[in-house]
Amino acid sequence: MRNEAFCIMAFLLRFSHPLLISFFLFPFCTPIDTIIPTQTIDDGETLVSAGEKFVLGFFSPGNSRNRYVGIWYNHIRERTVVWVANRENPLTNSSGVLTIVNGNIVLLDASRRTLWSAINGTDATNYSTARLRDSGNLVLSDNEGRILWESFDHPTDTVLPGMKVGVDRRIGIDRYVTSWKSPNDPAHGEFSFRLDSRGLPQFILWKGSERVWRSGPWNGQRFSGVPEMNLNFIFNFRYVANEYETYYTFDLYNASVISRLVLNGSGELQRLTWLDGNHRWNLFWAVPVERCSQYAQCGTYAGCKPNQAPSCECLHGFEPRSPQDWYLRDGSDGCVRRRPLECEKGDGFFKLAHAKLPDTLHARVDTRASLKECEDECLKNCSCTAYSSADINGGGSGCMMWGGDLIDLAVYSDGGQDIYVRVAASELDSKRLLNKKKMMILIITLILGAILFAFCGCCLWRRQKKREGSRENERNHGILYNEIELEATTKGPELPLFDLHVVAAATNNFSSENKLGEGGFGPVYKGKLMNGEEIAVKRLSKNSGQGSEEFRNEILLIAKLQHRNLVRIVGCCTQGEEKMLIYEYMRNKSLDWFIFDETRRVLLDWRQRFNIIMGIARGVLYLHQDSRLRIIHRDLKASNVLLDNEMNPRISDFGMARIFGGNQTQANTNRVVGTYGYMSPEYAMDGLFSVKSDVFSFGVLLLEIINGKRNTSNFSGDPSQNLIRYAWELWNEGRCLELVDSWMVSSCPTNEIGRCIQVGLLCVQENARDRPTMASVVFMLGMDTAMPTPKQPAFCVRKNFNSKDSSTRRTGSCSINEVSITDLQAR
Ligand SMILES: *[C@@H]1O[C@H](CO)[C@@H](O)[C@H](O)[C@H]1NC(C)=O
Ligand SMILES: *[C@@H]1O[C@H](CO)[C@@H](O)[C@H](O)[C@H]1NC(C)=O
Ligand SMILES: *[C@@H]1O[C@H](CO)[C@@H](O)[C@H](O)[C@H]1NC(C)=O
Repeated sequence: MRNEAFCIMAFLLRFSHPLLISFFLFPFCTPIDTIIPTQTIDDGETLVSAGEKFVLGFFSPGNSRNRYVGIWYNHIRERTVVWVANRENPLTNSSGVLTIVNGNIVLLDASRRTLWSAINGTDATNYSTARLRDSGNLVLSDNEGRILWESFDHPTDTVLPGMKVGVDRRIGIDRYVTSWKSPNDPAHGEFSFRLDSRGLPQFILWKGSERVWRSGPWNGQRFSGVPEMNLNFIFNFRYVANEYETYYTFDLYNASVISRLVLNGSGELQRLTWLDGNHRWNLFWAVPVERCSQYAQCGTYAGCKPNQAPSCECLHGFEPRSPQDWYLRDGSDGCVRRRPLECEKGDGFFKLAHAKLPDTLHARVDTRASLKECEDECLKNCSCTAYSSADINGGGSGCMMWGGDLIDLAVYSDGGQDIYVRVAASELDSKRLLNKKKMMILIITLILGAILFAFCGCCLWRRQKKREGSRENERNHGILYNEIELEATTKGPELPLFDLHVVAAATNNFSSENKLGEGGFGPVYKGKLMNGEEIAVKRLSKNSGQGSEEFRNEILLIAKLQHRNLVRIVGCCTQGEEKMLIYEYMRNKSLDWFIFDETRRVLLDWRQRFNIIMGIARGVLYLHQDSRLRIIHRDLKASNVLLDNEMNPRISDFGMARIFGGNQTQANTNRVVGTYGYMSPEYAMDGLFSVKSDVFSFGVLLLEIINGKRNTSNFSGDPSQNLIRYAWELWNEGRCLELVDSWMVSSCPTNEIGRCIQVGLLCVQENARDRPTMASVVFMLGMDTAMPTPKQPAFCVRKNFNSKDSSTRRTGSCSINEVSITDLQAR
């Protein structure tokens, strides 16, 4: 149809017969979203969906001159094509015509030859129309509204919200995406992302016929190999598997967020979100980007550990198949059993926690069996090599069983699930013996520890008494932040340089006994200097390119900071390829080591926890406001808060921190770094960070300290539930004391806890502007003062609390007089 012609005619005729003509013809001037049989779309004309979200038309990709029919976003200026009709048969000039012939959408060239048609063969219906919907789906339907064909069933390289990837056995269709050949050619490239229904269904990223990445099976909450799917407040992921269909789909809780999943020409599967303010796509998630996501990186019977070097580790009871390669860090040959199985005499199972489940090509599932029945069944069948829960909801149910070799396992530091691997009974015996020894050592240590602890507790208690007295004095004199030691202003930023030999001697030549753990960019060792001072040495891994930038950042920043709630740096060492940071040693490890541990949590009573909360708040305030620089930490979390000998918190890890200039209040970044569960929504979604994103992380941390569970852990078996939402629900029901770690309740003043929870909820409010500054936080925590009522926190989108209701439902110790944040800051 010739839109322009109609419009011009309408325009001309309007003057002669205004009423008649404008009534009938004017509507054609607005963009159309439907093709009816007699109409054509020529090169240069477009269909626009009713809500103007998507456009269908002719285009030339990249620097090609060929013409293709495709669908792209209407309001995104950098044309982003999400679907292409004639991928393999381009037009060489602009004489193409899209039309409907015999109830079928066809693309004709100048000589009326069919280059592409929606339905293969002519399944002619008399009358059908094609409509471009606002979801980006081109739908061909007959005059009774039955769908004959839709572009969502024939994806190219992009999955849009509402689109399914997988099979529908009723209509015999397999929907999968294939990459473009190149940015100039949308023809089928060599990469595809497709459901593999053999064994237990899982999604595979293929390069030709070679596996590149595997999603792992669905475990009731997410794909086993995509722990990030826990971050479930933006995307509503769904996986459906029944006798008719098996597919994955997603949509967005907030429909105005624009997001797509695309398989790009280099075989990277990427999830992108559009940043309106920045006019660009933001990379939200991608595979396979790190070593462990490459298929079978460590071969059979080995786990790949993402943050570790070397990353491959044989499972318990297995040893490298070719030790030479293995120690040269080529793990692809995998591992083999140290001792053969003896099925008849009875084998056992070794539990591997936090695993990405191995390839399920030779696995099967029984959704009714319990884990115990699963073990029995697997034990009976000599070809069963491992088992696991099929659904991790509600503590786990169902049974997955593997036959054949286990391949492509990964072990995460957090997330993943338990899998039980079959080993010879003798392997378990040696383990048990070892356990007995460990048990003995543990018991002795505990007894000694208890004595020591009682002694220290006594000393601490006395000290505390003294300090409380002096705190009263401070309050009376109105000094709030007296602890800030502004040494930094007098001392230059130079750091003492250590000689490599000195550090090596102090750490026993970086021996494994001295290793404290593994940080984001390398191992951390304990050491002792000649003068007896204990140190912690953070050694940058040589193969971590990103780490080296963070290393420089940390040196530059931390040397300038001095505060009793920040970890103190002693010096650094850069010699040849070696780069190391040297800190004072923190005997009590980190906050997460205490609060998230079943047995150690009782070592921190409410008084200590409150002191820790105050200390962290002061440390962050110092970063934000009181140091000469304005610093955004960007990665506040329990494991980055260390505890010194007196259980004072020390904020550490400044690798991601940023300095803000004088008047700068926010910034944005292409690379969203940080930790899921602590990231504010504007940072996670738009890459925007400011002091208020640190305030958000502080709020999460505060609630975690009170509750003793991670924000991301599973609350009441509901995957959409997190600590923030749980706290908000309790608060609204006036039951907020239930949030408190249960053993602690009796020992703590309820008004103080109520106040802490309220501050926590104020910090995690959805809108960054509503969140208090750290100065207000310190003020509100430290004084019995009126506080504003928190608004709905971020990530509560799915359960719609009415904010008007909430203020009336609130009762008891949680409610505190309302004032606004601005009032507070004015004081
Ligand atoms: C949805 O997203 C838009 C754009 O990002 C934002 O302006 C709006 O506030 C969001 N709505 C809700 C309910 O979160
Ligand atoms: C695919 O994405 C990666 C990461 O953004 C990029 O480096 C690469 O160039 C892209 N490949 C193509 C063909 O666009
Ligand atoms: C034993 O396990 C294998 C692999 O899981 C399976 O193919 C086979 O049917 C099982 N045999 C019996 C008797 O259950």
